[in-house]
Amino acid sequence: MDLNTAIETRRSIRGFKPDPVPRALLEEVIALANRAPSSMNTQPWHFHVLTGAPLEPVRTGNTERLLGGVTPSRAIEDYAAYDGVHRKRQIEIAVQLFEAMGIERDDKERRQDWVMRGFRQFDAPVSVVVCCDRDLLSNTIAQFDTGAATYGLVLAAWARGLGAVINGQGIMQSPVVREVAEIPEDQVILTCVALGWPDEGFVANDVVSRRRSVPDTPRFIGFDAD
Ligand SMILES: Cc1cc2nc3c(=O)[nH]c(=O)nc-3n(C[C@H](O)[C@H](O)[C@H](O)COP(=O)(O)O)c2cc1C
Repeated sequence: MDLNTAIETRRSIRGFKPDPVPRALLEEVIALANRAPSSMNTQPWHFHVLTGAPLEPVRTGNTERLLGGVTPSRAIEDYAAYDGVHRKRQIEIAVQLFEAMGIERDDKERRQDWVMRGFRQFDAPVSVVVCCDRDLLSNTIAQFDTGAATYGLVLAAWARGLGAVINGQGIMQSPVVREVAEIPEDQVILTCVALGWPDEGFVANDVVSRRRSVPDTPRFIGFDAD
């Protein structure tokens, strides 16, 4: 798959086949993710790749703590209540996903089920826990760098037929993830990526999220008018 096609066609995948993903393929994907640029070439990211039995206690721990009312615990926040245009975009993608899944607005049970899927990392066969070096945590550039590597990982996976969703919900109870995956204390858990072979029958996988148009995004300064 060429780069333009990979970028244009990639979308978040939230329904997976149970089939395992070969380690060699994941190593290939991570080699490409590692080509991301980073500030001063610091490469502050770490990927902990879980599958099979070790992934199950992450799913159950995350879910049980959520149901037990344990306050979400993570190093960085992405669940602040968005306002204005950000809130509008957040609602827009949620509506697209719920419409695809046939989940009605007032169907609390199925909405809750959807949330629980996220906490179970959408039952993906692989979870990549994305960390960065703790001594750089207050340095937001390290998060920028780790984000670039994570996008590279997702794109490289997509180009090989693998689907993924970057999934903050999956590490919402980070202490469980740290314990099970034995993540060293000098690393901060930023997010995870649920990854596997896309289930073509899972309708939410077909949702194409909307984007701002080019005239709406950049400002060009010093260019001649066309
Ligand atoms: C940092 C980050 C965290 C995310 N967390 C979640 C999540 O917890 N649950 C989820 O379903 N999608 C999550 N997503 C996926 C976004 O919802 C998705 O990328 C966005 O709606 C655009 O859709 P697309 O990836 O299909 O283009 C996350 C994406 C990013 C970059």
